[in-house]
Amino acid sequence: MTVAKNERFLKALRREAVDRPPAWIMRQAGRYLPEYRATRTRAGSFLDLCKNPELCSEVVRQPLDRFPQLDAAILFSDILTVPDAMGLGLRFETGEGPVFDNPVRSAAQIAALPVPDPETELRYVMDAVRTIKADLAGRVPLIGFAGSPWTIACYAVEGGSSKNFHQVKGLRFTDPSAMHQLLDKITETTIAYLQGQLAAGAEALMVFDTWGGQLSAADYLEFSLAYGRRIREAIPATVPMLWFTKGGGQWLDAQIDAGFDGLGLDWTTDLRAARATYGERVALQGNLDPATLLGNAELIAQSTRATLDAAGSKPGYIFNLGHGITPDVTPDKLATVLKTVDSYRV
Ligand code: CP3
Repeated sequence: MTVAKNERFLKALRREAVDRPPAWIMRQAGRYLPEYRATRTRAGSFLDLCKNPELCSEVVRQPLDRFPQLDAAILFSDILTVPDAMGLGLRFETGEGPVFDNPVRSAAQIAALPVPDPETELRYVMDAVRTIKADLAGRVPLIGFAGSPWTIACYAVEGGSSKNFHQVKGLRFTDPSAMHQLLDKITETTIAYLQGQLAAGAEALMVFDTWGGQLSAADYLEFSLAYGRRIREAIPATVPMLWFTKGGGQWLDAQIDAGFDGLGLDWTTDLRAARATYGERVALQGNLDPATLLGNAELIAQSTRATLDAAGSKPGYIFNLGHGITPDVTPDKLATVLKTVDSYRV
């Protein structure tokens, strides 16, 4: 079977047959690439880079030029552009990660939060999508993305990264209605933001629920997935959508019910079992442990083949890591992964 390079990813996401599993890598444009680090230096900072459509387009194409096996591109931006546009004041501190100068902690602060318009406050992201789309010229499909409302709320309330999420969980347990109001505003913003990305040329969408796995099973449904479902329902059913809850492998059934076409799996989930149980209902994406890339080439090739074997030959599988590629990995390690996928025949 021959499948055009720019079709593999979207076909697999729709659970149509392909010649080999499509592959793309979370954070494929990023710090493990020396050419990315050079462009970021030229831009000034990570946020300056996100606000420069031409340079965003350049870094999106860097991994595609280096690794011809990649079957999709992802918008270069960040999930935290949304709370930044809501007035929280995003900064990235070296060694510290993201920081918000104005975290939201009270019902009054939440009530005062605006729902920004994507074509004004987030225009730079829409411009990046348009520029990337034009420069890709159909080479591979472009994935747009946003954070899940719960994950964005974690950063908005904590004011940055967190170990135990006690600020945001404190809000959830002391004032659940304020928590819901915050999630509601983030959801409205996210819907408009994703619709804007679609209008600008994104061909599939992914929602990153990085911190959904911090919730209890019941709270996951109420505080994370319910808002994911609202986003899914607001996007046309013809647009394929992926949902990825890190640590959410126990709740795949509910994630399918929420209407997603594909689900991301982290490396703790048994891919073979998930494919056997859910493979007829949803496409699955993942889930090689990113730390595998610290090993040698032989180990990496073997582990990649084991992942592909676990996924099996039925349609509806997309190769990826179980989370983003880390900055301490060298590009040759990823080349080994992708060559292994490329030579694999189902
Ligand atoms: O995947 C891609 O190549 C597309 C671009 C992308 C970035 N961030 C660029 C980025 C995507 C899809 C994201 C999503 C994102 N951002 C998530 C969800 C996915 C996940 O990793 O769980 C989260 C939680 C964030 C928030 C964020 N952005 C953090 C916590 C950090 C700092 C720590 C870290 O992991 O790097 C960032 C910075 C960031 N976002 C970088 C990149 C390339 C590194 C910035 C730099 O160049 O210094």
